Amino acid sequence: MSVPADAASLTDPGIDNRRRYVDLMQRCLLGLIYEDPAQDPWTGGKFDLNNRLLGRDWPLRAHSMIGKARMENLRGAIEYVLKENVPGDFIETGIWRGGACILMRAVLAAYGVTDRVVWCADSFEGLPEPNAALYPADAGDEHHTFAPLAVSLDEVQANFAHYGLLDERVRFLKGWFKDTLPGAPIARLAILRLDGDMYESTMDGLSALYAKVSPGGVVIVDDYGAVAACKQAVTDFRQAQQIDEPIRDIDGNERADASAPVRARAHPQHPSARVPAQRGICRTDQRVRGGVCDARCAGRYYDESAAAR
Ligand SMILES: C[S@@+](CC[C@H](N)C(=O)[O-])C[C@H]1O[C@@H](n2cnc3c(N)ncnc32)[C@H](O)[C@@H]1O
Repeated sequence: MSVPADAASLTDPGIDNRRRYVDLMQRCLLGLIYEDPAQDPWTGGKFDLNNRLLGRDWPLRAHSMIGKARMENLRGAIEYVLKENVPGDFIETGIWRGGACILMRAVLAAYGVTDRVVWCADSFEGLPEPNAALYPADAGDEHHTFAPLAVSLDEVQANFAHYGLLDERVRFLKGWFKDTLPGAPIARLAILRLDGDMYESTMDGLSALYAKVSPGGVVIVDDYGAVAACKQAVTDFRQAQQIDEPIRDIDGNERADASAPVRARAHPQHPSARVPAQRGICRTDQRVRGGVCDARCAGRYYDESAAAR
């Protein structure tokens, strides 16, 4: 079983080469065209289309694990900020093999955009060991033990190059988020995509970067529905910043899945969510309504992580 053709793309040749290109990029980045098998500890090493569409597995060779629904959401968010002229760069914190950032760069290329940068933040050596003293929600987290989650900078840059998308509009922030994000030379963001799984990683991203998101920009939290600690970080940050706009689900629901084997925190119900950016109105296809927030990093969690540095 394959992903069905994009009917409009096939019948509307005059306007849709851009759409065809991005659609093909997504299929390649997700390993859909060659049915790349899974390598995670819970799906049995097979290619399962439904898992891949919903980002519920770790592909063996494909360049992104976020799944088609979340990738299309990302593409939609990019097209939205381009259409609405929301100023700023794009960043993903937690890029693994780079697939979501490659998609960001591809969409910029498709639209001929030359004044935005795609920032790629990662340790390029996997996730940190949990710091339970500072972040109790991360206690017992095992992500750092999974070797497939550690992908080197060289490998990621090679992945960009394979698609012909490695240029000066792609910049890399190598190191732990707590060290690289606070001083990153980023002026403004139109899209902030957080995909670091853990409480610490999510909170470090929000604390350092949320205030840089332009009014009307889009904040996406990949693991909000999949990793309880990540959700807790978002909840704590929103409370500290007095953000109360609704969070919109992208590709699932928040139902805990009792059948999830091996790791409850990585249950296969792997939904994502957007958190509205500070100030302004965000009329995305997800109908997120932005609100007002002073967007200062005055929350106690920011202070805690700063103290740890
Ligand atoms: C789930 S993977 C990201 C998947 C990716 N977005 C994609 O498109 O497939 C999580 C990544 O976050 C990185 N990461 C998590 N926490 C981090 C931290 N505190 N500092 C630096 N990198 C971190 C890991 O190295 C890993 O590459």
